[in-house]
Formats: sequence, structure tokens, C-alpha cells
Amino acid sequence: MRCCQSHVISSVKCLLRRRDLCRHASNFTVGSKVTPKQRELMGRGLPKKEPLPGVKNIILISSAKGGVGKSTTTVNVALALANHEDTPKVGILDADVFGPSIPKLMNLSGNPALTHDNLMEPLINYGVKCMSMGFLVDEDEAIVWRGPMVMSALQKLTRNVAWSPLDYLLIDMPPGTGDTQLSITQLLPIKGAVIVTTPQDVALLDARRGIEMYRKVNIPILGIVQNMSHYTCPKCHHTEHIFGNNGAMKLSRDLDTEILGNIPLDLQICEYSDKGFPIVLSKPNSPQSSSYREISSTILSKITLNS
Ligand SMILES: Nc1ncnc2c1ncn2[C@@H]1O[C@H](COP(=O)(O)OP(=O)(O)OP(=O)(O)O)[C@@H](O)[C@H]1O
Ligand SMILES: [Mg+2]
Ligand SMILES: [Zn+2]
Repeated sequence: MRCCQSHVISSVKCLLRRRDLCRHASNFTVGSKVTPKQRELMGRGLPKKEPLPGVKNIILISSAKGGVGKSTTTVNVALALANHEDTPKVGILDADVFGPSIPKLMNLSGNPALTHDNLMEPLINYGVKCMSMGFLVDEDEAIVWRGPMVMSALQKLTRNVAWSPLDYLLIDMPPGTGDTQLSITQLLPIKGAVIVTTPQDVALLDARRGIEMYRKVNIPILGIVQNMSHYTCPKCHHTEHIFGNNGAMKLSRDLDTEILGNIPLDLQICEYSDKGFPIVLSKPNSPQSSSYREISSTILSKITLNS
């Protein structure tokens, strides 16, 4: 047991370190370095719900609660999808305007180029097209925007981007069930939402709220990813459900949805995320990567069935 305790402590420390970084990132204030062009791009109004040209399927990766692993799940599922035998074209939209994570997780930086028709070119790594507020404002700058500016920025990040052609666009949602979430569901035809939760009761309560919100606006729930569901000691292979057991299973039964997969609390997931080299690529033969691949295959088959 002592062996497992020391290992689990290092995993949780890694996780907390990154969460502090996330909090730091989301505390930044509006930057003077937003160029007039960027301001102009973000200042235009909102359209009505319309498909994104050339994008076949839009999927939300969501949870009402912060820090449960949405962004980590988004990148690993996106990369698993992109490496599926059908080699679909995959993109990621980072809808977390206040605390963008995708640049770091996908090891991308820099400003998007503009196409001849004034669309922003997504930045690409590992074959996945990405767009994020982090490409438009400096990391330590930015954002005390009020609602309309946020909505406008989101709309630019969504529509003023040369996404086409894409089979799947995964949207890494910010935490909560507020304006951003509702706007996205109102602006875009969404094929379904994946709900990420951890096994703690508070996270499960928020997951329930999230599922209920999406159902109210007629977004199909593709299923639940239970993140940090268990911990397996790398030394003695003892497995422990350190954040509780069976909560997500009960939630899925109560709300008539399914568990898409369980991802362990794992130091390597955290460390490779920090390096911008997600575990699905860096350790493709690990059980963690197999879990992400299974989740992505289930999502694929559900989307195909619903289409
Ligand atoms: N299965 C896991 N094992 C270990 N660490 C993990 C796991 N999943 C996520 N993490 C770590 O937990 C932290 C939070 O993850 P992430 O940023 O993906 O959460 P989030 O839900 O997107 O957060 P936010 O609400 O701030 O957007 C990060 O440090 C990440 O590396
Ligand atoms: Mg996130
Ligand atoms: Zn052990």
C-alpha cells in the first residue's frame, strides 16, 4: 500500500500543478496586444444556426464541472479518431475563450494565416486542424470580455476558419452550462455531446446538470467518459478506485445513456499532455491509449448510426 500511495501522490501532484496553470491562464486580463484586425474580427454579430461549410459532424466534449479532463479527452479522442483505419479528417475547436488549453496540449503556437477569402487557416499538428483563442492573443494576456464579445469571438473562431474538408470537428467546451454552451448549441448543428466526468459526487452532479441541459436543447448525448476512474500502481499493479466507484454507472443508468469508457488517473496521461505529445501518440500501445481508441470507435459508430 505504501508503494501505491507514493505513486498516486505524484500523479495527483502533476494534475494539481496543471490545474494551477489553467487557473492562472484563465485569470488573465484583456491584452493591449489584441490587434485592430483581431478586434474587428471579433466584434461582428452572431448568425443563426447554420452548418459549417465542409464540416460533416460536429461533436461537443463537455462537462459542467471544470478540471475533470475535457481538454485531455478531446485531444486524445481526436487523435485516436484521426488514426482510425478510415483515416477521417479531424479538427479541434477550443471553445474555452478564457482558458484555452489546445495550443499547449497539441504543441501549437503562432497566429493563423489568412486565406484569400479572409478565413483563418487552422494550425495543424499530428494531422489535426486546430483553432483556439490561444492563437489570437498571447498566453499571458487577455480577457475580461463581456458576454457579447465572447460570443462574437466564439463565432469568429468557429465560422471564420478554413475548416473544410473535415469529417469530425470536436469542440473542447469550457466548464459550465452558461451562455457559451447555449450559444454553441444554438449556432451549430451538433451531432452529439460526450460528457466527461470524474467519479466524485460533485462532478457527477454537474455531469447530470450538463446532460439535462443538452437534452433540453435537443442535443443527443453520445455517452459518458469517466475520467480518473481508477488508479493502477505501476509497481505492484494494485488497482484502487480512489475517487469512488460506480457513480458514473449509476448516472448513466438514471439518465439512460452509456459509459463510453473509463480512463485511469495516470501520471503519464498528465505528463505527456504537458509535453504537447498526447499519450495516444506517445504511448500508443498503453492500455490508456487503447481506452481512448475504444471511446473514439464507439463515438464513430454512434455518429454513423445517428446520421
Ligand atoms: N486521466 C488523467 N490522469 C491524470 N491526469 C489527468 C487525467 N485527465 C486529465 N488530467 C490532468 O488533469 C488536469 C485537468 O485536465 P484538463 O485540462 O483536460 O481538464 P478540463 O476539464 O479541460 O479543465 P477546464 O475545465 O479547466 O477546461 C490536467 O493537468 C490534465 O493533465
Ligand atoms: Mg479544458
Ligand atoms: Zn503499489
